[in-house]
Amino acid sequence: MSYNLLKGKRGIIFGALDENSIAWKTAERVHEEGGTFVLTNAPIAMRMGSINKLAEKTGSKIIPADATSIEDLEKLVAGAVEELGGKLDFVLHSIGMSINVRKGKHYTDQNYDWTQKGTDVSAMSFHKTMQVLYKQDAMNEWGSIVALTYMAAQRVFPDYNDMADNKAYLESIARSFGYFFGRDKKVRVNTISQSPTPTTAGQGVKGFDGFIAYAEKMSPLGNATAQDCADYTVSLFSDLTKKVTLQNLFHDGGFSNMGVSDAVMEAFVEKQEK
Ligand SMILES: NC(=O)c1ccc[n+]([C@@H]2O[C@H](COP(=O)([O-])OP(=O)(O)OC[C@H]3O[C@@H](n4cnc5c(N)ncnc54)[C@H](O)[C@@H]3O)[C@@H](O)[C@H]2O)c1
Repeated sequence: MSYNLLKGKRGIIFGALDENSIAWKTAERVHEEGGTFVLTNAPIAMRMGSINKLAEKTGSKIIPADATSIEDLEKLVAGAVEELGGKLDFVLHSIGMSINVRKGKHYTDQNYDWTQKGTDVSAMSFHKTMQVLYKQDAMNEWGSIVALTYMAAQRVFPDYNDMADNKAYLESIARSFGYFFGRDKKVRVNTISQSPTPTTAGQGVKGFDGFIAYAEKMSPLGNATAQDCADYTVSLFSDLTKKVTLQNLFHDGGFSNMGVSDAVMEAFVEKQEK
């Protein structure tokens, strides 16, 4: 169902790799709501992924950019403003990557070159993106910038590894840069803390299946899907949330405020009775 919530709004969507990506679902929803945008991803991901299909479907141009490269980001932002015919109203940062996770290096035995690369891609890229947007004065007043995060920034999830630290950094950047973006340009900056979601990045985390099943049983509303996340992001891009900023917004079916649920308790009671 479309409400035309983003009619006339322009933006950039980072991170659509394939149909499972949260950014992919978001691009489809933003398109349905009347928004226009440029799609972007790392040049290497374009060779692997199927982003052209999404671009065709949504009538969008693709401008490749490695989100760790200021030069790429400068070209992307200038190119998007030119392509879309004016300043931007929304930006989605949907990027995450840890080489330690990918290569199964334990949190207590990190390869710090990999750690640094992961931090650059997963967190500092958000600062770089906003700094380029800010310096080019590329955002319209009452625009909205959203990045995706996970609750391992606040609580311990052992297999999330160094991504937990990257997410804590990402969320802090949202607050710190959000202050200046709000004060100087009336732009809001928030992070959405999403349920575990079966995507390429999500499934890279060890024990993901157990992780997602546990969260499902703990959450009174069940896990939020990528599609649900797309809907929520649309609301944050719309004019209906103009005064929401500097927030880390949990979008997880209630998981983050649970201690234990009946469903999880049952599993343990059964075990003890055996
Ligand atoms: N899947 C989950 O369980 C989950 C839960 C909470 C938050 N998130 C977050 O959601 C976001 C999107 O991830 P997803 O789950 O849709 O997975 P995904 O693998 O589909 O998306 C991750 C994207 O990051 C891109 N990327 C990696 N390095 C890059 C670089 N140098 N420059 C530009 N882009 C780069 C990848 O190409 C990919 O498109 C991430 O920030 C992730 O941490 C995911």
